[in-house]
Parts: sequence; C-alpha cells; structure tokens
Amino acid sequence: MAKSTPRYLCAACGASFAKWSGRCEACGEWNSIAEDPVELRPGPAAKATPGRAVGFVPLAGSAAPPPRIRTGIAELDRVLGGGLVAASAVLVGGDPGIGKSTLLLQVAAAMAEAGQEVLYISGEESIDQIRLRAARLGVPAAPLRLAAAVNLRDIAAALETTPAALVVIDSIQTMWLDSIDSAPGTVTQVRAASFELIRLAKSRGFALVLVGHVTKEGALAGPRVVEHMVDAVLYFEGDRGHQFRILRGVKNRFGATDEIGVFEMTDRGLAEVANPSALFLAERRGNIAGSAVFAGLEGTRPVLLEVQALLAPNPGGAPRRSVIGWDGGRLSMLLAVLETRCGLRLGASDVYLNVAGGLRVGEPAADLAVAAALVSAVTDQPTSPGMVYFGEVGLSGEVRQVAQAEARLKEAAKLGFDAACLPRRVARGARALAAPSGLRLDEIGHLSDLVARFAAKAGAA
Ligand code: TYD
Ligand code: MG
Repeated sequence: MAKSTPRYLCAACGASFAKWSGRCEACGEWNSIAEDPVELRPGPAAKATPGRAVGFVPLAGSAAPPPRIRTGIAELDRVLGGGLVAASAVLVGGDPGIGKSTLLLQVAAAMAEAGQEVLYISGEESIDQIRLRAARLGVPAAPLRLAAAVNLRDIAAALETTPAALVVIDSIQTMWLDSIDSAPGTVTQVRAASFELIRLAKSRGFALVLVGHVTKEGALAGPRVVEHMVDAVLYFEGDRGHQFRILRGVKNRFGATDEIGVFEMTDRGLAEVANPSALFLAERRGNIAGSAVFAGLEGTRPVLLEVQALLAPNPGGAPRRSVIGWDGGRLSMLLAVLETRCGLRLGASDVYLNVAGGLRVGEPAADLAVAAALVSAVTDQPTSPGMVYFGEVGLSGEVRQVAQAEARLKEAAKLGFDAACLPRRVARGARALAAPSGLRLDEIGHLSDLVARFAAKAGAA
C-alpha cells in the first residue's frame, strides 16, 4: 500500500492543505494548522470495492413532523422550534462564563424532574462543583445522572447501554478519543468526538446537546465542522456586564432560525424573560437628546430597544467612530447620507453609538432609529418621548419599507408608546396598515423629512 501523504487542517476554519504553514491562507489565522490523522479518512482500500447502489424514492410521500421533547424552559423550546428532537444533536456555543453550563444544568434538572432519563456528562467540572451549582439553582435533588469524564471510549460504552432521552456533554472541547494522537480541543479530536457522539445519538435515539466554547473572534473554537455535523446550532450571548443573555438560533434543521430566547442571570440561575422590551427599556431616561427607541424584530418576536448617539468635538485628526451593538460600516453609511443628502455637518465630530442593554442589532430596519438618535444629538433636541422608529435608509436618503411593520407597531402600543415614525407607503394600492388605535403614525419618505422635524422643534424652542 502506498504511504499516504499527510493532510493539514486549519483549526479555525477547517480548510485543508497539502503542506503545513504558519498561517492559514483561507482565514488568515496564525498557528492554527495541524496534521489530520490518516485513520479518519477513507483509505485507498475503500476506493477499490464498488459500492452498493443507493435506492431512489419519489419526492412525494408522507413525513410526520418529528416528535418534540419539551425541555421545561419555554424560551429554549421556542428557539429550538418547539423542543428537542429525539436522535438529533444540538450545539450550544458561547463565550466562557456566559452561562452555558448553568442553562444546561437547569434544562437537565427540569427534564429529569418531568420524568425523563437525563445524563449530564461534564469534562470541565468535578461532581462536587456540579452539585454546588445545582444547590445554588435550587434543584439539589433533581433525578438526573451525573458523570465527570473526558475519555470518549468510556463515555461511549456507558451511552451504548444506559437509557437516556437527553445527554448533555459539557464541553465538546474537553472530550478526548485515545485512538487519535492529538490533544483535546484540537480540530481532529473535536471532530472525531462529535462524530462518535452524534452517531450514538442517532443509533440510541437520545437528544444530544454539545456545549462548545467560542473564541473571542466569535467562531467556535475548534473546527467550524462541528456546526455542519449537528442538526441545530444555538449561540448563547450577552455582555457579562449586563444581566441578560440571549439564546440565538443560527441553524436548525427542524425549524426556523433567527428565533431568540431572552434570559436574565440572577443569583439563582437563569430566569426566563417573557417581556424583553420592558427589560431593555427599563433604564431609559426620557427627554435626553441623542436617544431614540427602535422597534426591532428578533426572529418572529418584536423587541423595543434604545439607540443612543453622542457627538463630541474632535480636537483634530481623524474623527472617531465608535459603535457598540450595531454595524460600524452601516453607521459610516448613515453619517455620509446625513451629510451629503441632508446637509448635516457631522464630519468634524467624534461619533459614539450604543445599543443600550448589550443586545446586538443586525437589522437594516434600525437605520431610521440610528438616524433619529444622530439627528437628535446634532440638533440637541430630544426625540418625542412616546415615539418609536423603524425603517431602512438607502444611499440617496430614501426611507424604505421593512418587514412586519404591524408586529412592531403592536409591540410599541403594548408598551405604552403613542407614536411611530416609519417609512411612507409608496406602492399604489398598498393595503392600509392595521395600526393599533391610539398610535399616531408619522410616515416619512426621505431622511431630510426627519431632519426637518428636528429643525422645526429647534426653531420652536
Ligand atoms: P457558567 O454556566 O459556568 O458559564 P459557562 O458554562 O458558559 O462557562 O456561568 C458562569 C457565570 O454565571 C459565573 O460567572 C457565575 C454566574 N452565575 C450566576 O450569576 N448565578 C447563578 O446562579 C449561577 C449558577 C452562575
Ligand atoms: Mg461551563
């Protein structure tokens, strides 16, 4: 048999190369390339025998939706699309210390208390540490089964024979197969360990939850390849300085992505937040220039957020643009549109933008709220205290329609807002907007209309 040439894999992005180098050409990461052991790849022998032909079936046919196992935590069930699915694998990623182990111990305890067989395997903490956490969470006697182990051969032997509805592995980066000659946490170990665990989940029919740590650049440490192997990927995010946490679905083979679950970290673990808008707006002070409320959408769920802008005179040199919770490129675009299309002078000031509360907004619909916060800061005129903003802004300054206007308006009315600034409907024959009664609509077609509103206020003052 010919000696096979080694192959090299990047731990950060999973790209493969014929030779080693210090820097990955695909993602630019340094020192991330390591050899891929041969035994994981199909050898030449596998190629020699012809395969059995696969059978084809027509597309038409019946498929029942997969039965769901409720976790007992409604926010998680929503993100999963109705609960865990048997014989499937979910990856829960997040920064160290964000609360992944806390969340999963709560889930495990809730399911065990509901009468399900639950196995919780930790490679990071000792049994005593887990017991202490369970006591803190108020579930010291939940009937789940605990193990502290990292050797996957031993774990697999147990999983082959122990009945289980849910198996939690905390974390995949600590798991280790002794047949593979590389350290835990490396690409090959993480990939092989995930592969083995997922195989067991499919053959034994349990729901598998893998915990994964995220690098500071936001990628799952170890190969991206785990994301492709599992059926659902959830990210647990939040700012450690704030008490709330967002569980965000980024991939789901059994349901919609983009759903979020909102939790609050308390001294007794994670509490579900049924009304996130109220939480995000709790510390808002009215009547301050530079603040605007954005009526946003996270998945199917409307959320109101405060956008804050601050302009400071720049002493000279390149002006600073600092953004938290939003896209820096989009801020630059909005500043350029405000200057070029609306004649606002911003170029010489430092601009700071913050989405209060630590949530990250990805929607272009936030453009109008950001613009309102900026114009409010420039003109030193507060936005109307009862007004929410949403709409996308184009390069010529036009304000464009966004999805789900009615859901946004309903949420605003529910939280006591009495006015909304939104894109003007231009399409002829457009259906009238079913706005909640008592909500005044201020439709604008161009960003200069928004600037004019503030200028009028400044003139009146
Ligand atoms: P943890 O679940 O260990 O994070 P991860 O598994 O993602 O690394 O959470 C750790 C943090 O959560 C820690 O800083 C303490 C805090 N915490 C609380 O505030 N309240 C609690 O009830 C628990 C269990 C943890
Ligand atoms: Mg942990």
